[in-house]
Amino acid sequence: MNHVKIVGTGSCVPDNIVTNHQLSQWVETSDEWIQSRTGIQERRISNGITATEMGAQASLKAIEMAGITPSEIELIIVATMTPDNYLPNAACDIQKLLKAEKAVCFDLNAACSGFVYAYNVATQFIKTGTYKTALIVGTEIMSKLVDWQDRGTCVLFGDGAGAAVLQKSDTEGFVKMEMGSDGTMSDALKCKTKSLNNPFVNKNNESEYISMDGQDVFKFVCSTIPNNILSLFENTNYSINDVSHFVLHQANKRIIQAVAKRLDVGIEKFFMNLEYYGNTSAASVPIALDEINRQKKLKEGDLIVISGFGGGLTWGSALIKI
Ligand code: ACO
Repeated sequence: MNHVKIVGTGSCVPDNIVTNHQLSQWVETSDEWIQSRTGIQERRISNGITATEMGAQASLKAIEMAGITPSEIELIIVATMTPDNYLPNAACDIQKLLKAEKAVCFDLNAACSGFVYAYNVATQFIKTGTYKTALIVGTEIMSKLVDWQDRGTCVLFGDGAGAAVLQKSDTEGFVKMEMGSDGTMSDALKCKTKSLNNPFVNKNNESEYISMDGQDVFKFVCSTIPNNILSLFENTNYSINDVSHFVLHQANKRIIQAVAKRLDVGIEKFFMNLEYYGNTSAASVPIALDEINRQKKLKEGDLIVISGFGGGLTWGSALIKI
């Protein structure tokens, strides 16, 4: 089996910054409520840029860092639940903008776990020798799915994109992954697509906005993710103490603190940038990965954990050697 390394990262967020104070002019909320419950101070909200455009810009930065040309990319997987179109998929649209003409392109929807799922899927193709170079992207325009009159959800989310280039390698990169899903808990976090509207049925009055039971989601993450992360070390030569950085889905500061506590790992090892972007769903892990990478905090040989969790319910983590 081949080894797989991350050789480039990139990210792109909209220029438009929306602070908690601005939100408090639109819905009944306050900076104090939002910061104390979530840690979020501001988020980026698209004032025109699309999921495809952000994904392509993040990809170009990752490609540049990897030192490859777009025509070397054989696989593009885009993790998103907010694509610009039902068809074509976002991966084909990004392929077109990048001129990555040799790539096989598909989207993957695992909500906020999407980027980690995309990493794990692309890794399997490279490990088995099917492809040598893959581009994985998480891109979301969450502001499309949010009801801007629902203070329970609109304060949480933001727009953004992140990307990574993965390549076949002679040295260990991908170490292990663990994923899970539980469709019986789907009501905890959901959002319908267009309603059924044909000559036989018209359900046009159904809500198309995100709804969430915040406390159920909180409990799910705290009871699932610590064990999911611990299982990464079973049957390996590594222990959790060997990990330099934990890059978790940036949903909520209190969730990350609770996971760190349950794992008995210092919070300083858990990268956080949710203060500035809010919850960008499938984009949050690759944006965080790109920031930590560009801050030169990742050294060759470092062990990191990436971990995503969200609607479905879905969750997944991977242990990676830089
Ligand atoms: N501003 C002010 N008050 C608010 C707001 C707001 N933005 N939103 C809700 N409230 C009110 C509620 O109406 C309620 O008022 P009431 O007591 O008069 O009925 C009160 O605050 C408490 O509401 P709760 O929903 O119980 O608040 P809670 O303390 O649970 O915090 C939160 C809500 C932050 C969503 C929390 O449940 C949480 O962190 N959940 C995790 C879910 C999460 O992070 N989801 C992100 C998406 S999922 C994912 O990415 C995995």
